[in-house]
Amino acid sequence: MRFFSFVERDAVRDRPRPQRRHLLHRVPGARHTLLRSIDQQDSEPMNRRPSGERERRRIGRRDKEQIMAYIYTGKTALITGASSGIGAEFARVLAGRGMNVVLVARSEGRLTALAETLHARHGVRAEVVTADLSRAGAAAALHAETEKRSRQIDMLVNNAGFGTYGPFETLDAGRDHEEVMLNVAAVVDLCHAYLPVMAQRGEGAVLNVASTAGFQPTPYMAVYGATKAFVLSFSEALWAEYRGRGVRVSALCPGPTTTPFFDVVGSEEGTVGVRRTVAQAVATGLRAVEASRPSAVDGLANTLLAQTARFTPRAVMALLSRQTLRPHAPR
Ligand SMILES: NC(=O)c1ccc[n+]([C@@H]2O[C@H](COP(=O)([O-])OP(=O)(O)OC[C@H]3O[C@@H](n4cnc5c(N)ncnc54)[C@H](OP(=O)(O)O)[C@@H]3O)[C@@H](O)[C@H]2O)c1
Repeated sequence: MRFFSFVERDAVRDRPRPQRRHLLHRVPGARHTLLRSIDQQDSEPMNRRPSGERERRRIGRRDKEQIMAYIYTGKTALITGASSGIGAEFARVLAGRGMNVVLVARSEGRLTALAETLHARHGVRAEVVTADLSRAGAAAALHAETEKRSRQIDMLVNNAGFGTYGPFETLDAGRDHEEVMLNVAAVVDLCHAYLPVMAQRGEGAVLNVASTAGFQPTPYMAVYGATKAFVLSFSEALWAEYRGRGVRVSALCPGPTTTPFFDVVGSEEGTVGVRRTVAQAVATGLRAVEASRPSAVDGLANTLLAQTARFTPRAVMALLSRQTLRPHAPR
């Protein structure tokens, strides 16, 4: 009896199954037509139909982009907020991989010391441009400076940023304005300055540092969370626009990371969970660039939290965040 049931089960298992076919495969030519039209929309201006040769070159480039690791050696990266924390680590890692670096922040002394160390250790060209990127026109001035020095920027790392914490009515309006200018306006302005040339060359990378704070509203850090939601959405949109044109755009979303960030915020209360290291955050960001991914959250726990936010009603998420981020002591 037992023997027969095995035979029966095996017969059922081995029976040839009808091949499952996607709807697109059932309509002759539909899949080909759809993919071709997505390809065309992806990379060609609406009013120009690609010639066969251009199309072949473009598809070849896209394949390369998707299967080839990013080559760092000999290229130049511009890193904002390179004087400390995650930005300084980006500079160390990228120089270690053979990239020349342009280091940008306000603290000239710290940038110069880092540039000298990187040049001595890795033999790369390491330059400093001091800039307050929260000022209107700062991105244009930075771009003019790199043009004056004839530097081709192959990778743009928009990392400079800071946060403010506390009940909204207690926060300094000017400081919040600076936060939006630095975390949002400078990111957009620098993308405008460097990305079109990358697209013309058919090669380049932009890595924007967002945050896990961008996945849900962050009461008591309302402005900060909103700026990072902007950076995340903006980067993912550009990823889709430039996919297939040789330019990789990614957003890195670190959770709490060991840097002076919370000294600048002025409170530790806006932090949730275990802090990760700058090395981990940078490794996650560069893996996203290498794999041409639109965004990457640093760390498993942070990834799970970010996913939770996606499946929780927004009002519930806002109230949960309020609970977590609420200042303990009266301010
Ligand atoms: N640490 C975290 O837990 C965490 C978590 C998620 C996301 N992030 C994001 O990671 C990025 C880097 O932060 P971090 O943690 O490395 O903090 P950090 O150590 O305080 O570094 C911030 C960097 O931004 C630069 N900066 C600040 N204001 C500037 C301005 N007006 N113009 C030009 N540069 C300016 C600072 O340099 P100067 O002061 O010399 O100008 C510094 O190099 C930020 O975008 C932050 O939002 C951090």
